[in-house]
Amino acid sequence: MVTTPSQQSQTSDQHKLMRDRVVLITGASRGIGAATAKLLGQQGAAVGVNYYGSEAAAQQVVEAISSEGSRAVAVKADVRDPQQVSAMVQQVTETFGSIDTLIINANANFPIAPFTDYQWEDFEAKLLGELKGAFFPCKAIVPSMIEQQRGCIIAISSGLSRDPGEGFIAHSTAKSGLDAFIKSLALELGPYEIRANVVAPGLTLTDATAQLPQEYKEASAQRIPLKRNGLPEDVAGAILLLASEEARFVTGAYLPVSGGIQML
Ligand SMILES: NC(=O)c1ccc[n+]([C@@H]2O[C@H](COP(=O)([O-])OP(=O)(O)OC[C@H]3O[C@@H](n4cnc5c(N)ncnc54)[C@H](OP(=O)(O)O)[C@@H]3O)[C@@H](O)[C@H]2O)c1
Repeated sequence: MVTTPSQQSQTSDQHKLMRDRVVLITGASRGIGAATAKLLGQQGAAVGVNYYGSEAAAQQVVEAISSEGSRAVAVKADVRDPQQVSAMVQQVTETFGSIDTLIINANANFPIAPFTDYQWEDFEAKLLGELKGAFFPCKAIVPSMIEQQRGCIIAISSGLSRDPGEGFIAHSTAKSGLDAFIKSLALELGPYEIRANVVAPGLTLTDATAQLPQEYKEASAQRIPLKRNGLPEDVAGAILLLASEEARFVTGAYLPVSGGIQML
């Protein structure tokens, strides 16, 4: 049977893993969030691309998604502010319909320093930043997920939530809180067909790690069984797996994306 180009494009759209899905990704202007927005867009999702300071970069992500034939909108919000988060969720919902997939990714910055030098103010800012960035988007979106009886929440944690790293005490503590938050959601929201999972990257080459000394990154790569540091696209691939319908019976999971370092 001969198929027309339009029939072929419809058939390939049907095979996209995120077709008919509406996704909001926090901190999607750069790094892991940007790579995830592009991949989920390629796979057919309509994507809310949240940014805080990098409007031009967020617009570039939107353009990249649009050029592949999917829909996207850039939405400014500080994820630590409940009013801004509500306005962002409203904007994405009015543009694309109810959000069914939330990726909690925005990076809460922190100083790398030993405990003896750590100031409470910096520690508190990291803890609150990380947990507000999860709590407020969930608070704004979960009610509509419950109404739809479907939803998927993925939080980007870190391998350091389970294993300590020198100077990373605030990050480890905050991310382990995030892991516990997501497990609790997985338990409470399971009866509404809402899944909640954690993706835990190892060292990934983004702006957040650009300042680390080259020798540190090379030594890190050597310790990793797959012998390289992660790329944003590596993490995006794992997020796609968990977000897709193929992972429909996976909830409360913690998926390391670290080239195998978590085994050692
Ligand atoms: N890179 C790593 O090695 C690594 C390892 C483990 C876990 N992670 C986690 O992966 C996630 C992404 O990290 P990344 O390396 O991709 O970071 P990144 O390249 O520094 O990008 C950070 C993103 O977060 C956004 N952001 C920061 N503060 C925000 C706020 N208050 N409200 C909304 N958006 C905000 C930024 O937006 P603007 O630029 O628009 O301000 C940007 O899009 C983080 O949760 C991080 O902890 C990263």
